[in-house]
Amino acid sequence: MLHRKDDVRDDLLDEVFASTDMSVSLPKYRMPQNEHLARHAHQVVIDELMLDGNSRQNLATFCQTWLEPEVREIMAETLDKNMVDKDEYPQTAEIEARCVHMLADLWNSPEAQNTLGTSTTGSSEAAMLGGMALLWNWRARRREAGKPTDRPNLITGPVQVCWHKFARYWDVELREIPMEGDRFIMNADEVIKRVDENTIGVVPTLGVTFTGQYEPVHLVSNALDKLHADTGLDIPIHVDGASGGFLAPFTVPELVWDFRLPRVKSINTSGHKFGLAPLGVGWIVWRDAQDLPEDLIFNVNYLGGNMPTFALNFSRPGGQIVAQYYNFVRLGREGYRKVHMSCHDTAMYLAEEIAKLGHFDIINNGEASVGIPAVSWKLKDGVEHPFNLFDLADRLRTRGWQVPAYTMPKNREDLPVQRILVRQGFDRDAASLLMSDYRAAIGHFDKHPIVTSMSEEEAGTFHH
Ligand SMILES: Cc1ncc(COP(=O)(O)O)c(C=O)c1O
Repeated sequence: MLHRKDDVRDDLLDEVFASTDMSVSLPKYRMPQNEHLARHAHQVVIDELMLDGNSRQNLATFCQTWLEPEVREIMAETLDKNMVDKDEYPQTAEIEARCVHMLADLWNSPEAQNTLGTSTTGSSEAAMLGGMALLWNWRARRREAGKPTDRPNLITGPVQVCWHKFARYWDVELREIPMEGDRFIMNADEVIKRVDENTIGVVPTLGVTFTGQYEPVHLVSNALDKLHADTGLDIPIHVDGASGGFLAPFTVPELVWDFRLPRVKSINTSGHKFGLAPLGVGWIVWRDAQDLPEDLIFNVNYLGGNMPTFALNFSRPGGQIVAQYYNFVRLGREGYRKVHMSCHDTAMYLAEEIAKLGHFDIINNGEASVGIPAVSWKLKDGVEHPFNLFDLADRLRTRGWQVPAYTMPKNREDLPVQRILVRQGFDRDAASLLMSDYRAAIGHFDKHPIVTSMSEEEAGTFHH
């Protein structure tokens, strides 16, 4: 005999999956008419997230996917703190200021005690602020000289999309140095070729998104010094240290890229990448208070007290900032060095193993002096491959791994590469498991050669 559904459910009131709430599929694009028990709603929502990828196996992202239990506690304990209420939460504000000073010090600012900087939601917001400061300062210099201000340009290597956004939002011509042959980053000659009196600044990236390589900030700065001496053109540098800003000071302290170079006026970084903080925090620091135009600072008094603000968003969670500070205290310089060097070791192990497979040429082998702990590679020329990199990426997904394959930007769109980002939480053992799956994927294609390979769009892999 069939039970009436409702009878069964009455008997099992406390059983989530037998509840009336769970007997229907929830509407997806309009709000339900009635309320649900918290436990039931929670179950439905959390269960749906099973269909997301497993973040720890996401080897595409630069962002943190493993966090210490203490960080999780801090996040839970600070859930109610709005970092913009500086009068109400003066210690959170103080902690933010300490982080700015510590970063200025880490980046060898001669003004570490009087520096200006702020937390942001990430490097994109920080880059926007850095770019705006360059633009405002350039306009002021031009106005003073009685010259027009209508055709600003910015020089970069192959940059992350946040700089494309900056250029489009502010109507700045982006002079992005394209890749050429095996040169995947900017060099000093290419920068100098593009500079003119309308150049608001040069932005080298410390850890280029596509390959992970560090751009040669020191050489670019030297070339701009010479240009200054020869022509009087004095072009400032902003360094996009989204990843490298939190790596190089620990892993290659002898690399000169930061405020040791007087031409470097500002630096951005992502706390949530190699800063090891949870998602939602970036930083920008200016060399000197005068490098941040006063026009970009707003004073508000309606939260109590008179508070200067110069980030784009107003309300923001305070937890990420507190967690960032926790990491500084918890790890210190030596702790960061150990965490990051172990990532470099794992990356170099992967590069060696991938090279052994015979199908690939390594572009970045994950060495600390070259760039961030990333490995990137391409298919070897002149060898038969029964697959392409997109097929491989797709096959690895069957084991949950997200190893992105993508084509390079302008001028090398013909070149597909694959890349792995090694972060805290992806250790040698996990890397060896990944390599077994990688070998198994190739074994599969040896047996079942691909007749029609996947395209980039079909594989749907991505990079940041
Ligand atoms: C070089 C570079 N700049 C900027 C960004 C944007 O950073 P965020 O994701 O923190 O906004 C990224 C992100 O990967 C990056 O690699």
